[in-house]
Amino acid sequence: MENRKSFYITTPIYYPSDNLHIGHAYTTVAADCMARFKRMQGYDVFYLTGTDEHGQKIERAAREKGMEPIDYIDGIVTNVKKLWQTLLISNTDFIRTTEQRQKEVVQKIFTRVYEQGDIFLSEYEGWYCSPCETFFTERQLTEGKCPDCGRDVEMLKEASYFFNMSKYAPRLLEHIENNPDFIQPESRRNEVVNFIKSGLEDLCVSRTTFQWGIPVPFNQSHVVYVWFDALINYLTGVGYLQDDELFAKYWPADVHLMAKDIIRFHAIIWPIMLMALDLPLPKKVMAHGWIMLEGGKMSKSKGNVIDPGILVNKYGVDAVRYYLIKELSFGQDGVYSEEILINRINSDLANDLGNLISRTAAMIIKYFAGVIPTAGTETELDLQLQEAAKQAFYEATEKLEKLDFSNYLHATSRLVSRANKYIDEAAPWQLAKDPFQTERLGTVMYNLIESIRIVLILTAPAMPTLMVRANQQLGLWGDSAKAVWNDAGKWGMTSSGAQVTRGEPLFPRVDVKTLEEEPAETSASAKTGSNQQELKAVHKTAEEDSITIEEFARLDLRVAEVIACEKMKKADKLLILSLKVGEEERTVVSGIAQHYTAEEMVGKKVVLLANLKPVKLRGVMSHGMILAASDDKQIDVLMVSKDIDSGERVK
Ligand code: MSP
Repeated sequence: MENRKSFYITTPIYYPSDNLHIGHAYTTVAADCMARFKRMQGYDVFYLTGTDEHGQKIERAAREKGMEPIDYIDGIVTNVKKLWQTLLISNTDFIRTTEQRQKEVVQKIFTRVYEQGDIFLSEYEGWYCSPCETFFTERQLTEGKCPDCGRDVEMLKEASYFFNMSKYAPRLLEHIENNPDFIQPESRRNEVVNFIKSGLEDLCVSRTTFQWGIPVPFNQSHVVYVWFDALINYLTGVGYLQDDELFAKYWPADVHLMAKDIIRFHAIIWPIMLMALDLPLPKKVMAHGWIMLEGGKMSKSKGNVIDPGILVNKYGVDAVRYYLIKELSFGQDGVYSEEILINRINSDLANDLGNLISRTAAMIIKYFAGVIPTAGTETELDLQLQEAAKQAFYEATEKLEKLDFSNYLHATSRLVSRANKYIDEAAPWQLAKDPFQTERLGTVMYNLIESIRIVLILTAPAMPTLMVRANQQLGLWGDSAKAVWNDAGKWGMTSSGAQVTRGEPLFPRVDVKTLEEEPAETSASAKTGSNQQELKAVHKTAEEDSITIEEFARLDLRVAEVIACEKMKKADKLLILSLKVGEEERTVVSGIAQHYTAEEMVGKKVVLLANLKPVKLRGVMSHGMILAASDDKQIDVLMVSKDIDSGERVK
């Protein structure tokens, strides 16, 4: 235990001026995914999150409610902690800047930097944005307004302490140049470098205009600037000046994760503060994009804030986390919509992953009385599946190391798709008909179980409850807390003989229609606990999947008359049909050539799925598909036997 490598990851400490929303949940879930991944790799992980509780903005929010700041904040912080429990955030500690440990460390640091001459008393005059707690110079304003939030600024003059940042600028630039991974993604690094090169001004690090902050120890009429205070949480959280052993173990931080809005604080002010303290810099500062709404940014004043607690109640924690982690491409903004969330649940989780597991379990129950068989001789197809699994392991690892969360889950999705395709290609239902193929059938089942085992390990950092839930059905491998990441890189670890059972669907399908019936969820409170009875969403199992008549009506099925037909050259299975559909003529390529001649098709009336997306087959565009019944031996094209005109609807 003692010698394990350590990994220290942080989120920003959030302002408890109001309840948190899905944007804050994004950073916290992404950092949690990373923390879980590193733990599975065997690291000794310290994951720190918390709340940034000082400053004028918080003081005002409390006063508006007629409350003392600390009483107001205590309520919000309780909600924040509950929300993180609901989202299964595995933080090691939760730091509040109003705690005594933070006050002591901030005061000691302020005094030290003052005594060494990097902080000095002067007078400040400038444009101040109070919601952002930030002073701006004239040239930093955007059309006379705050460049960050666009609100009005006011001219303020006060005696203040200043931090001499320019002194450290050349060292910081050199550090950024020598450590290309220090600021990620690259676009943010460039932004930071340009900002530093444009000249750093001394930073005003104390305030006299309000009291809600940590007093400057040697001049009590000043409180420490809220950002100077807040950034220090990353040191306090791992015991700086208080627990030397803890601090030595975890500092420097491996990753500070945040959105792009606060990258400059973390990539300029913070490293300079650390340089002034002679402390090593964090290894990486990573800024992801913003989650936007279709109408723009999320904000309380617009009343369009999405509460992640409500989403978890509706869709389950694994699904919400999966959606968040997959949705934002590396460093880019993304748009939140509940419809996309539902689509992800239905396609990635219910159809692909859930079905892979339930189909495999059902087949093992049917063909092997629920006992996982042993694998026999491997074929080329099996090796392809193993290769896909290996690829998924390497890619998922590589992407997570880079904090490219979305592509990490794309890599796991590819393995799920490959395994589903493997079922179609290996056709176990055919093998089951032949008693001489029992060994082959066993091999196919074993390979599927192995693929699922690997998928469950790879997705465990994103979906912490899935492995336990799936394993209850599959009778395998314990829980995600004990799962070892590198086991996903090995093939053949499942022992045969375990008993598989059929359980509840892992990801119930959700009817998108429920969205139309429900008003948008904009509540501010972080609801926790779940009452399935209350869910308005219509949950259905993937197996009993049913569709509405409206959904069926989306299929444009028509009577079509074959007016010409020819065999596709160099393709034994394909016929090219010219169809008359009412007044329209169209070409459809169909794989029926081994069962019908071109001549016998001419004059027949068939059923055409007319609104299928056109595809090119062997160089010929096919505009639709004709319907046929088939088993493994024969194909029977559906024909209309009465004299119904072409173009009429089939319904
Ligand atoms: N208190 C400061 C941070 C101090 S860290 C030493 C602060 N707090 S905040 O409550 O405004 O949180 C900002 C952070 O919340 C962002 O950097 C990001 O991590 C997260 N997000 C808030 N809204 C977000 C989106 N709409 N989208 C993505 N992340 C968002 O700044």
